[in-house]
Amino acid sequence: MARVTIREIETLKSPLPQSKADLLVLPMSQGDSSLHGEAGELFSPDSPVSALLTSGDFSGKLGEVRTSYGASSSFSRVMLVGLGPTDEINAERVRHGVAKAMREALELSVSSVVLALPEPAGVLTAATLVELATEAALLGTYKYDAPKAADAAEEKAVEHLFIQLPDGLGQSEGDQALRRGMYRALGTNLARDLGHAPANLMTPTDMAAKAEEMARRSGLEVKILEREDCELLGMGAFLGVTAGSAQPPKFIILEYDCGDPNAPTIGLVGKGITFDSGGISIKPAAKMDEMKYDMCGAAAVLGTMSVVKELEVPVNVVAAVAACENMPGGRATKPGDVHTSLSGKTIEILNTDAEGRLVLADALTYVARTYKPTAMINYATLTGAIIVALGHYGAGVFSNDDDVWQRLERAAASSGDRAWRLPIWEEMPEHLKTPFADLKNMGDGNAGGGSIIAGTFLREFVEGIPWAHIDIAGTAWWDKDRPHVPKGASGFGVRLSLDFLESFGK
Ligand code: BES
Ligand code: MN
Ligand code: ZN
Repeated sequence: MARVTIREIETLKSPLPQSKADLLVLPMSQGDSSLHGEAGELFSPDSPVSALLTSGDFSGKLGEVRTSYGASSSFSRVMLVGLGPTDEINAERVRHGVAKAMREALELSVSSVVLALPEPAGVLTAATLVELATEAALLGTYKYDAPKAADAAEEKAVEHLFIQLPDGLGQSEGDQALRRGMYRALGTNLARDLGHAPANLMTPTDMAAKAEEMARRSGLEVKILEREDCELLGMGAFLGVTAGSAQPPKFIILEYDCGDPNAPTIGLVGKGITFDSGGISIKPAAKMDEMKYDMCGAAAVLGTMSVVKELEVPVNVVAAVAACENMPGGRATKPGDVHTSLSGKTIEILNTDAEGRLVLADALTYVARTYKPTAMINYATLTGAIIVALGHYGAGVFSNDDDVWQRLERAAASSGDRAWRLPIWEEMPEHLKTPFADLKNMGDGNAGGGSIIAGTFLREFVEGIPWAHIDIAGTAWWDKDRPHVPKGASGFGVRLSLDFLESFGK
């Protein structure tokens, strides 16, 4: 569970000069030499807040934060936060500035905060600004509530955050925008919680229980396929991965009905390896603990599904998560074993550590055959090679369809979840040929292009459905703190999926 850092978040109902709080946060552009709008009315040119600007101590560069005390009787503290040059302000910079300010606010002993917003301009409409600010405040102050004996240190929380409505935005539009930002952040933070949980507390059984609880709460259809169900269906690729584990596998299916029978159906598929030891092709000990995050594809899918109802996403959505552990053991799959996948294609397992593509193969076939979706996308922490290629900055995308890719490209830009397309060249399938089965699960290790070969493998199982594979091995987790993405599990993919799903509405 995430720790509560902001107890209540709502729109500001009174004009700034008539409002009162422990802290006022004012976003500023670089080079602004004075306060404007209602803030200008509130603080005279000789107030301590104005002095921050006239002294040159605050320049407004992106993420710069300065707090002034005793500026007015209604706000005992005023924090200026820089958004950089006016003409360079975009959605991601608003997220950056707001998140930085709210993280700073959490360090102060303030109980109420009023957050002012920059002037609407271009695509940053008044409603978008309210949505972005709400999203960023909740994303930036996220804290994982680790299982520890009662915390000695009192954890600080902001009791009330009030977001100022930009001029011209009505109360109900403002509340609606705030609600959107809130659910987008809550879905992301749920994915972060799942990613942080240790593998012994986030087993496939735990994950299935979470999915059931979530479905009950938000009115989605849920179905869990047990091992026997998967055996009857013939999911040999998925079952081969779980074979060495003492934890039972779970194949989790969620369905969201948008209420419009003519709306397209979109599939979301997630890799849910709750721990990846590598299996018999065991991984080295260093950093093996991080392989608890090998279920972040599942986390992205579950985080998205947790809010599609609240956000009234305009398409039907079916989600499938293949959850199991990849462990060595007396029953484990061995290098050289051949398994028959749900598609009927046989797969020679040359390296048991290339397991993600196996569980996804059956999940993609299952969704393609059962639902014949208009499009489907999958999230997976699939290859270490994608971190070599793109670092932790963006996800690699592989697609058989330009329209699906273009929708993802736009969703990446609007959500801030960066995505970059990589090719599946025509000679790639050669790498997956073997005399012993239809396919092998990895190429010749020395050939390079590991992420592309993995994408090529997955394409064999999509039955021609327009599809994209999103490799989030780098983006799902980073040891580096960023303003609205605290270090650890990032929740990458939730907001990307939401914007992708919305792109199919009228
Ligand atoms: N879960 C890993 C990929 C991974 C690596 C995720 C680092 C996050 C951080 C995946 O199952 C894996 O082990 N892939 C192998 C494939 C290889 C054996 C063909 C890899 O990337 O080395
Ligand atoms: Mn692996
Ligand atoms: Zn893995």
